[in-house]
Order: sequence, then C-alpha cells, then structure tokens
Amino acid sequence: MELNTIERDDIGAAAEDLVVLPAATRKVFVKTYGCQMNVYDSQRMTDALAIDGYAATDAVGEADLVLLNTCHIREKAAEKVYSELGRIRELKAERAKAGREMLVGVAGCVAQAEGAEIIRRSPVVDLVIGPQTYHRLPGVLAKARSGEKIVETDYAVEDKFEHLPQPKRAELIRRGVTAFLTVQEGCDKFCTFCVVPYTRGSEVSRPVAQIVAEAERLADAGVREVTLLGQNVNAWHGRGEDSEEWGLGRLLFRLAEIPGLARLRYTTSHPRDMDDELIAAHRDLPALMPYLHLPVQSGSDRILKAMNRRHMAKDYLTLIDRIRAARNDIALSGDFIVGFPGETEADFEATMQLVEDVNYASAFSFKYSPRPGTPGAEMNDQVPEAVKDERLQRLQALLLKQQQHFGASLVGRTIDTLVEKPGRQAGQKVGRSPWLQPVIVDEKAGEIGDIIQVRITKAGYNSLFAELA
Ligand code: SAH
Ligand code: SF4
Ligand code: F3S
Repeated sequence: MELNTIERDDIGAAAEDLVVLPAATRKVFVKTYGCQMNVYDSQRMTDALAIDGYAATDAVGEADLVLLNTCHIREKAAEKVYSELGRIRELKAERAKAGREMLVGVAGCVAQAEGAEIIRRSPVVDLVIGPQTYHRLPGVLAKARSGEKIVETDYAVEDKFEHLPQPKRAELIRRGVTAFLTVQEGCDKFCTFCVVPYTRGSEVSRPVAQIVAEAERLADAGVREVTLLGQNVNAWHGRGEDSEEWGLGRLLFRLAEIPGLARLRYTTSHPRDMDDELIAAHRDLPALMPYLHLPVQSGSDRILKAMNRRHMAKDYLTLIDRIRAARNDIALSGDFIVGFPGETEADFEATMQLVEDVNYASAFSFKYSPRPGTPGAEMNDQVPEAVKDERLQRLQALLLKQQQHFGASLVGRTIDTLVEKPGRQAGQKVGRSPWLQPVIVDEKAGEIGDIIQVRITKAGYNSLFAELA
C-alpha cells in the first residue's frame, strides 16, 4: 500500500466546505477500553488516520471523528459503550446544528461481536469496524463521509500489521520511553467463559522480521522498555533468522540484542504455553524483567475442567516452582474468576488455597459474567450474584494483603528504576520498578529514559517511594 508515501500537506487543502472539513484539519478523538492490545491498536489506528489527515484530540466535542475502541470481555465493559454513545449523540446533534460533521465509529471487540446490531441499537453510529480490518480504516471512512453506514467485521485475509502505516519518529518520541508491541493476536483455546476467540479470531503470530523492525524503530526513538503483547503471547512462534522455528524465548533473546532496549516484558501468557526455552529466558536474559502475569482463573480442578483450561491446579503450582527455580525474585501476577457456573464453596476454597500457595505480587479478579455465544453462558448452576460478590470480596482481601506484603518487602532494598515521566506532584518523577510498580523519585534523580539505582524508602498501596542510591 502506498499509504506511507502520502504526505499530510498533499491532502485536501483545496476543499473549503463547511460540512466536510479539509482533510488536513480534521480531528479524531479515540477512546480506548479493555486490554493493552486495544491500547496498541488505538495507536496504530491513530497513525493510519494521521496519514489520512486526522490530528488526534483529547476534546470529544471538537472531533470530526469519534472512535470508541471497545472491549467485550464482561458485560459491564460492553455496556459502557452504549452509555458513551448516548452522550456522543448529543454532541453530534450540537455539531450538526453548527454545520459540522461528526462521524462516530465503534471499533474493537464489541464491534466484532455485535456488528450491525450496534447501529440498530444506536443509530448515531456511522461505522463498525472489527480488530482485523483496521488497515482498511481510511477507505472505510471515505465511504462513511458520503453518508453510507458501514459494518466491516470480516477476518481479513491480508496481514493488517503489514498494511498499517508506521508512526513518525517524532510521534514515537512523544509517546515516551515504554511501548507496547503486539506480536501475536487471537486465541484458539476456547475457554468456556471467554469471548476472545470469537472477537479476535484464531491465533496469528507476526513474523520475526516485522517484529524486529518495529522494535528497532522504537529503540531508535528512545524507547527503553518494550512489552510484547498477545492474547496468548507465549503461543507466539515463527521462522527465525536462522530458518529455525522460534518460540517466544528465542524472540526475546533476539530483541535483547537491539541497542538501547534495556527491558523486555510480555503479556498475557497461558500456563500451557510456558515452554522450557521461555523459562530459561527468565534465568539467562537480564533484560527480561522478573515479572510474570500468568492467569490461572481457579484453583479447583473441577472448575478448571469446566472452564476448558486443560490443566490442573497442581500443574500450575509445579510450573510456578520451575519458574521460581529459574528466577527466584520473579513477581507473579494472575487473573481469577469467581462464581463460574457450578462453583461450590469447596471449589472457591481451593482457589483461596492456591492463592495462599503461590503468594502473588499483584492480581486481577472478576465475577464471572456470562457472555453471549460462549458455552459457560448456557451452563446450569449459574451462581447467584450475592454469592459472587461475597467470594470476590474475600479473594480480593487476600490478594490485596499479598500485594501490600510484596511492596513492604522491598523497603530498604536498592533496585533499578526506569525513569518514565514527570510525576503528578511538582518536583517528582515517576519511574518503573522491575516488578512493574510505579516508583516516585525526586525529579533530579535522573532524566526520562535513564535507568537509575534507587533505595526504596516507603511502599504505598500501588507505588513505591525511593531516593537515589
Ligand atoms: N488470554 C488470557 C486472558 C484474556 S481475558 C488468558 O488466557 O489468561 C483477561 C481476563 O478476563 C481473563 O484472564 C479472565 O480472568 C477474565 N475474563 C474473561 N472472560 C470473563 C468472563 N466471562 N467473566 C469474568 N471474567 C472474565
Ligand atoms: Fe480467553 Fe482462554 Fe483464550 Fe485466554 S486462553 S483469551 S481466557 S479463551
Ligand atoms: Fe477486551 Fe477484546 Fe481485549 S474483549 S480484553 S479488548 S481482546
């Protein structure tokens, strides 16, 4: 595609139409829900739109295009979109009175899951575009501007990443010293509670050369820490530069060779895809940060089976032992679902026990939300809301205790911190610990992008306070 070769100045400078603004002066407001992959996708859409003449704005009322990048994982997440669309309807009406257009687009996983239903339910929407077709956005917008309602939700055969334009270096520099890089998308695991295999399609790995080139571009723009993303990131595989089949472990070693890239992370992993090479990378690769998000969902074998997780609680615990043997200071994080259909008090107790056994540094826990089209939603023995509430409270109290304990254990220690951005309070900067916690330091402690040695003086709920060591 020649998208990359069009310069913004060449676009639409002649049209002086009140209804349709000249392309180079259009503004886009993007709101992102859901996981990090949506954050990454929103950036890539913004990059594609920049070439189409759209500048990003934080003021929704000024936007010629509003894009909601949505999440379908739980009912609450999906419903947020419709309340937002209600507000946007009023803004769009106001702009119409002033003779200005406001196109409204729904992207992301709700777009993929609900398609045309979104426009039926919320006629303010002009276009619905699924995650596999973002590279078609400029063309789709041209049609939408001429008044056509558009639903673009097929799983495109072409590689969207190859067709999405790369951001300008200046834009990368503006985005800061940490970055996301999607290496894998989609999921073939079909856990019975989860919509992702339906909204993101089947597992696809990006090729090594594409990933390396993108990581080099990030490093060249001053990025020090890259987080590789995928719904099942450790299922990533590809043909390496040596023509052998690489897994994520090999890829991490390769990326660590890029000058400037000091820190690597990856998320989200599935326990079944933690292979020996990846565990070895945690032992042998200093750039790989000692933090691992490894969701288990439940500690009950019966529930794990009903969830189609395809492993037992003891497999997970054995795996954790092996990972800790490779890297003893690794911080573990996880995801939990309480109140999956059929979950008894004993099943829930097994989850509490697993949490006690693992001792997490942080974790996310959710009440089970039945999702349309998933097997879980059709199961008998749905758990009453009040029971879910009560279990969630107990689980979260335990996880919070563990998280605070982990923070407190770091007080007095000297650790590496990547200085990331100015702090909220004057005179401060915020860094990032190897274990992903924000670290508050004096602004003179280092420049943004520096990795400095600090001594932890205090642990807050989420963040650490430190002084230069
Ligand atoms: N690929 C990752 C998870 C992606 S979804 C994995 O396999 O672990 C992120 C988290 O949302 C899941 O780990 C799960 O804890 C939660 N989740 C997914 N579907 C859910 C549902 N229907 N109800 C409640 N939580 C859900
Ligand atoms: Fe969803 Fe399971 Fe796939 Fe994770 S592995 S994205 S929870 S289906
Ligand atoms: Fe949500 Fe889709 Fe991510 S459902 S969690 S935005 S993959």
